[in-house]
This record gives sequence, structure tokens and C-alpha cells, in this order.
Amino acid sequence: TPSPPTTAYPPLKVVSPLATVTGQTLEAAFEYRRNTITTTANGITVEPKRHQYRFKTNLKPKKTGLLLVGLGGNNGSTVVGATLANKEALTWQTRTGPQTANYLGSVTQSTTVHLGWDGKQQVYVPFNGILPMVSPNDLVIDGWDINNANLYEAMVRARVFQPDLIQQLKPAMEQIVPKPSIYYPDFIASNQGARANNVIPGESKQEHLERIRSDIREFKQKHDLECVIVLWTANTERYTDIQAGLNGTAEEILASIAASKDEISPSNIFAVASILEGAHYINGSPQNTLVPGIVELATQHGVFVGGDDFKSGQTKLKSALVDFLVTSGLKPESIVSYNHLGNNDGKNLSEARQFRSKEISKSSVVDDMVASNKILYPEGSHGPDHCIVIKYVPFVGDSKRAMDEYISSIFMGGHQTLAIHNTCEDSLLAAPLIFDLAILTELFTRITYATEENGFTGFHSVLSLLSLLLKAPVVPEGTPVGNAFMRQFGALAKLLTACAGIASDNELQLEFFTK
Ligand code: NAI
Repeated sequence: TPSPPTTAYPPLKVVSPLATVTGQTLEAAFEYRRNTITTTANGITVEPKRHQYRFKTNLKPKKTGLLLVGLGGNNGSTVVGATLANKEALTWQTRTGPQTANYLGSVTQSTTVHLGWDGKQQVYVPFNGILPMVSPNDLVIDGWDINNANLYEAMVRARVFQPDLIQQLKPAMEQIVPKPSIYYPDFIASNQGARANNVIPGESKQEHLERIRSDIREFKQKHDLECVIVLWTANTERYTDIQAGLNGTAEEILASIAASKDEISPSNIFAVASILEGAHYINGSPQNTLVPGIVELATQHGVFVGGDDFKSGQTKLKSALVDFLVTSGLKPESIVSYNHLGNNDGKNLSEARQFRSKEISKSSVVDDMVASNKILYPEGSHGPDHCIVIKYVPFVGDSKRAMDEYISSIFMGGHQTLAIHNTCEDSLLAAPLIFDLAILTELFTRITYATEENGFTGFHSVLSLLSLLLKAPVVPEGTPVGNAFMRQFGALAKLLTACAGIASDNELQLEFFTK
């Protein structure tokens, strides 16, 4: 296992005519080359245009707190335990030898970005070496759960960590007990009822909102935090109806909470409480928490919202593999994605309405790739047959099994069938994304940009820049959704290098084609 990658690279020194540092602020100029396109019945007209952007980045990461809804779940307990283990650089015994804490699977901690060629070798820089970012070890983490197990009990129940690690973490983890949470039985599966023993009393949704707001305020004051992120990693809820008069505008959603309307879900309350407290809200589950009224409220309060549903395993691979197939000129015709898992998430998803939320978020992931190629998928044709099955098998616990079959049409009427079997602890794929979501959200609070037309402003409240980490990205109305993994990664890396004043077109590598 490699040591944490940040120690493997020397610091990066930027010498760029495009970048200046004044005090704590890095200002960088960036020429954004973009095509202006007009499509008519007569054809497509392309006009390449140059747009001058300026980015300002505050170089000092904020003291950041992360509040998890679902703290006692598999992801919640894994996130907390992993942070403690990394902080203390713990080593534990396994059947195959000693293992040391790491952050594998985290884009911010364990990936690199290509900078260029130094005459002898290709040079890469750690993703978190381009601009200063919060370290996951420095995040202050707390949260809520409808179950009162302390995090030692939660960690044992999760069946994710090895026994030696669990015993080493026990003294710290048993001190942490989730705050009571909101439980409306209609939203998660009925099989979760027995778990709900840590519930904020009363029927009034307005009072629940006030209680969550006061929890966020207290957390912020107690730890003297400059940035708070609330992240939903609790059970998948069913979809809520989206209706005018209910949740279509900011005013409506606040009024619906005040009237304790049935269609207001616990996640709606958490999102509204966060926004009203100036905390950013991220939805790691598939339900449609970010209804139009909540998006409007976030915009009014200038906080970020992001979602939906962590892109961690099967869907992440799909968002790379289908892009690869289509980019190869092959035509995926059928994608059958079968899962079985035995953790509490699987149990919750074994009921129809919660499964439906997951099915929706898993289904949309190939849409942009299908739409990208009308040679393979002509206008009016449909994309591949896409079928998703999830079964609950308690014995396998968190060790989820995902089996995917991809059938593509190939040259001259042939077929290619790819069968993929993926087995791993589900939460060990999801937890690193939780760090990334928090770290990138904090970073984006420190970046503003100006164009030729407009002065400096922050990013849109709907933080679509998090799409790399999410299955069904929520984007500002009227803007395109991107799912292809490497394109998303490339865009994010490009943005960071632009902000640092070192963006280049080095993937072209034109210098190597010279005769
Ligand atoms: P889990 O079932 O182990 O944890 C969820 C926790 O939320 C439980 O402890 C439960 O008691 C608690 N909870 C339920 N309703 C709550 C409420 N209203 N307030 C506070 N706590 C509440 O599930 P796990 O495996 O940690 O996954 C969490 C969520 O993340 C699920 O919705 C899952 O679909 C989603 N997700 C997980 C992925 C992964 O583990 N690889 C990938 C993508 C999404």
C-alpha cells in the first residue's frame, strides 16, 4: 500500500505571467476557447471564440465541519473511523499482513494531474497539490442518526473494518453518539422502523427544522468553524411529489414546513435547515431532495447544494466503460446491472418505493454518451436496453456483488459481450467520495471568477462541479448533465489548473510530433 500520496511529491512552485498572488489571494487569467454553434436545417455553423476569464482563489482553506445525516450507518461510521485511523497513521493486522491507513479511492487525496514533460519524464502533481485544500484529517465530523448506537457499535454492525482496526478505534469511537434525528416512517422502508430509537419528538415539522438549525449553529460555534457542510448519507428515501403550492418556490417550501405538510421529507428539512444556517448541503442518496423550492432558497442564501447519489461502484464503472465503448465506435445495445448486497442500505432498498429512487439515479448515467453519437444512435432511436436489479442478501453484508453484462454491436453484425463481476465493501468505495465532496465544496467557496462582461462572482448555487462524484448530477436549470467519468475528471483538473495559472493543452503533446 503506498504511503499517503501527498508526501510522495515535492511542493509545486508556479512561475506564471498569468498568475499573481496578493496577500492570500491568487488571481489567474485564463483564456477560455469555446465554439459558438448554430444548428439549422442547413447544417452546423461553428465559430471558435476566445473568452477572457479571471479566477480569484483564496489560498487559505477554511476550518471546515462536516455534519453527516446517517452518522451511525455504514458510510457514516466508516468515514469517522477512517479519519481517526489516518490521523493517527494506524497500522492493523490482517490475515495477509499489516495494513496502514490510507485514502485510496479519494480523487483529492490519491490522484495526480499531468503537468507536462521536464525533458526526461512526464511530470504529474497530486490533485490536492494544485490549489490548497482542506485535509480530510482536519475535517471536524459529527452528525445525526435515527439510531442511538455509538460509533463503535455502529462500526461493528457495519462489518466493514477488520477486527484489529475496530479494537484500536474502539476508545475514540464509543465516545461518539449521533444526535437524534427526524423520522417520518413514510419516506424510508418500513423495515427500518426498529432502528428508529433516536428520534426528535413531536409532530411539528417547523419545530424539527428549528432543532436541526440549532444543532448546526451549536456545532459551528463549538468548533469555531468557518465552513459547514451537511451531507445526507442516511437511508434512501422515496421520491416526493413536486407540485406548485408545495415545494415549487422557496416561499412554498418554507410554508409547507410550517404547515407540516405530509410530502415534506426529513431530507427536505435537513436541506432547508442547512441553507438557512449558511451551510452547504449535499445529497449522497438518490431521492429528489433538491426540489425547485430548495434550489431557489439556496440561491437566495448564496450557499451550495449538490447531488444526487454517490457514484461509487457499478455506476462509476458504467460511466467510464460506456464512454469507452462509444468512443471506440462500438454500440452498446444492452446493459444489465444486477446487484446483491446484505447491508442496511440493501435492506432499505428491498422495498419498492426506495428501490425506485435508486433505479432512477442509476438509469440516467449513460444518457450523455448515447446522445453524443448519432451515428450509433440515430435521431428517434432509443439507447441501450438498460435494466437494473437490486436484491437483499443479508449474508454478504457490506460486501456488495455487482454483476454487469454489456452487449455491444460490433463490426459487420457481430456482438461483443462483456461480463463484469465486482465484489468489494460498498462503504469503502463510498466513504472516500464523502471526503472529496466536502473538500471540493469548501474549495469552491474560495473561488470567484470574472468574465469580460461580468465582475467577480462565485459559482452557481447548484454545484454541478461535483458531478464526478455523483450518479445523477443535479445541474442548474437548462444546463447539460455530464456523466462520462474521465471527461468529468478532465474538466475538474482543468479548472483547478486554470485557477492556479498553469492551465495548458498538454494532453495534445504537439511538441513530440516535430520531425
Ligand atoms: P446505512 O443504512 O448503513 O446507513 C444509513 C443510516 O442512516 C442508518 O444508520 C440509519 O439509521 C440512518 N437514518 C435513516 N434515516 C435517517 C434520518 N432521517 N436521519 C438520520 N439518520 C437516518 O446505509 P449506507 O450503506 O451507509 O448508505 C447510506 C446512503 O448512501 C444510502 O442511501 C445509500 O443508498 C447511499 N449510497 C451508498 C453507496 C455506497 O455505500 N457505496 C453508494 C451510493 C449511495
